[in-house]
Amino acid sequence: MLPKTVLVTGCTKGIGRALVDIFASHGYHVAGCARNKEDLTNLFVELSTRYPKQRFFFESCDAADAELLKIFGQDVLREFGSLDVLINNAGVFMPGSIAEEAPGALEKQFQTNVGSAYHLSRTLLPAMKKAKSGIIINICSTAGITAYPNGGSYCISKFAMRGMSKVLREELKPDGIRVSTIIPGATLTNSWSGTDLPESRFMPVEDVAHMVYSICELSPRTVVEEIILRPQEGDIN
Ligand SMILES: NC(=O)c1ccc[n+]([C@@H]2O[C@H](COP(=O)([O-])OP(=O)(O)OC[C@H]3O[C@@H](n4cnc5c(N)ncnc54)[C@H](OP(=O)(O)O)[C@@H]3O)[C@@H](O)[C@H]2O)c1
Repeated sequence: MLPKTVLVTGCTKGIGRALVDIFASHGYHVAGCARNKEDLTNLFVELSTRYPKQRFFFESCDAADAELLKIFGQDVLREFGSLDVLINNAGVFMPGSIAEEAPGALEKQFQTNVGSAYHLSRTLLPAMKKAKSGIIINICSTAGITAYPNGGSYCISKFAMRGMSKVLREELKPDGIRVSTIIPGATLTNSWSGTDLPESRFMPVEDVAHMVYSICELSPRTVVEEIILRPQEGDIN
């Protein structure tokens, strides 16, 4: 059987990096994007050295830019021929309230968090539909199921992303394409830099990645529609 392929947006740090690591360690060819070119080059060198028989394709792309994302998606298809797993992970968290957050906070978080998943899915769906298989995994957030003060436009974007994920799930049932919404709570990444809270208060990125990988291991007859992961001691607000 040919190695499977996965695409992870926001692949160089945090949850995205942990996703790249787990899929690569299980023999997948891995594609990904982020904005920082040096991080992408370092990731490519590291993985190509560790897994010389697998293919890796990383491109610098701002996921908030629909046109760039379209080109990136097409490049991945050209490189890999087909895609088994699409993980819409890229996201930005800008704390603030609706009344007081900076102008443009809604647009930036909407374009990065929801727009990227929407546009990249649209780019890749024709190929996935043709193959009549594939999994789309949308990394949402508990901010997309519970509003909280200082969540502002981030909450709005994640509620919208969860909605989009549910729509996709319904639309793609006849195509053999499974859609999963992952809803993590506080996970220890750069998003939390400067926090006074202890490490033990957060989930490790590896746990989120492990859960996502497990979903992809199920038979094509089963879909995990939605999954909520929280720190053992509960949400941090
Ligand atoms: N950490 C949490 O507690 C938590 C909880 C729930 C949900 N989430 C969600 O999980 C996802 C990942 O979060 P994280 O905490 O792992 O983030 P992170 O540690 O800040 O890493 C973000 C990754 O995405 C890339 N990225 C950011 N903006 C991008 C853009 N516009 N275009 C392309 N790539 C971009 C970054 O690289 P560059 O900077 O080089 O672009 C980096 O590789 C997000 O969707 C987030 O909302 C996180």
